[in-house]
Amino acid sequence: MAKRYKVGVIGCGIGRSHISEGYAMHPDKYEVTVLCDLDEARLNAVADEFNVAGRIKSSDELMAMPDVDIIDICTPPAIHTKLILQALAAGKHVVCEKPLTGSLAELDDVVAAEQMAKGVLMPIYQYRYGDGVQQVRRIIESGLAGKPYVGTAETLWKRNAAYYDNPWRGRWATELGGVLMTHAIHLHDMLTYLMGPIDRVFARTATLVNTIEVEDCVSASLLMKNGALVSLTATLGSQEEISRLRLAFENVTFESNHSPYSPGDGPWRIIPANDEIGAKIGALLEGMPAVGRRFNGQMEAFYRTLEKGEKPPVTTTDARGSLELIAAIYHSNDINSDVALPITKGHSKYISWRP
Ligand SMILES: NC(=O)c1ccc[n+]([C@@H]2O[C@H](COP(=O)([O-])OP(=O)(O)OC[C@H]3O[C@@H](n4cnc5c(N)ncnc54)[C@H](O)[C@@H]3O)[C@@H](O)[C@H]2O)c1
Repeated sequence: MAKRYKVGVIGCGIGRSHISEGYAMHPDKYEVTVLCDLDEARLNAVADEFNVAGRIKSSDELMAMPDVDIIDICTPPAIHTKLILQALAAGKHVVCEKPLTGSLAELDDVVAAEQMAKGVLMPIYQYRYGDGVQQVRRIIESGLAGKPYVGTAETLWKRNAAYYDNPWRGRWATELGGVLMTHAIHLHDMLTYLMGPIDRVFARTATLVNTIEVEDCVSASLLMKNGALVSLTATLGSQEEISRLRLAFENVTFESNHSPYSPGDGPWRIIPANDEIGAKIGALLEGMPAVGRRFNGQMEAFYRTLEKGEKPPVTTTDARGSLELIAAIYHSNDINSDVALPITKGHSKYISWRP
């Protein structure tokens, strides 16, 4: 019989959604047996809601529990690295929210630990899951879309003072970045998931919307490795919230739905160059099984990694790419010039991208 993995979740904010949208949708695959949070009221509320018996405040205690298979890290960003390294050292599988680490140097430490570890590490990028994005990925991978020309990625969200009334948000030391790190990171990951790796970046960032340390508006121009050109726009000051990806390829133009927090959901607009391409796309997508949306789809894919040894659906290399883009954007803004990727040891933003 296939294994049912026991999960311990640290942090009951977005951790609650990992349970409701993810683990609880797959009761044959996962059982959340322990919750860990410093805030006792929140801990008990979420544990009561999902009938979780194990309730603890200390993450050290959770790491030492022999009957927990997966540690799911949903704490504020600055302690992700420490908890990942601790969980891998304890022999656990690890799921971790974005940003995976607080610097590229830390990310490389995590990769080194991952290579030695018994457990598997999966960064969270749940926007990759949903019928819309998965169908488009299939079309691009089949070669039907042809050569990529241009793309736009818009993360137009709204956040106000009430949102920043949280001790870790809005500060470099604890949030590690602003709209790039916390909000647009998802759509930017989705962009590279579909359009491939980035070669060069030019960008400007600004703090215009809220009274915070970190940036809340960004405009960037990317040259992709495949030659395509992409523009990114992100703000926390949009009166209507949308996330939108629009990608023009030689044979097809794709446009995501505009739902701010689930742009991967279907249907996407798939606009073929002609009827022949349209018919081929129709045939390719015929019978394609539905893909669970957001955490549902990502946790389902992770189970295949655990059971069948498949590569994790999101890897530390993917997480590195997304943090490298952010570091490059900050660097471009600082030096008022474009920046080549990758950012490796010796680069001024390798040890830290923070001012
Ligand atoms: N994937 C997504 O769509 C998404 C959405 C929101 C947040 N996030 C990410 O998830 C992380 C958490 O964000 P959030 O919005 O849930 O924050 P939050 O502040 O609402 O919740 C964090 C929880 O962690 C607890 N906590 C803090 N330190 C702890 C520790 N040492 N041990 C145990 N518990 C601890 C806090 O008490 C709090 O309940 C961040 O990295 C954020 O960027 C991701």
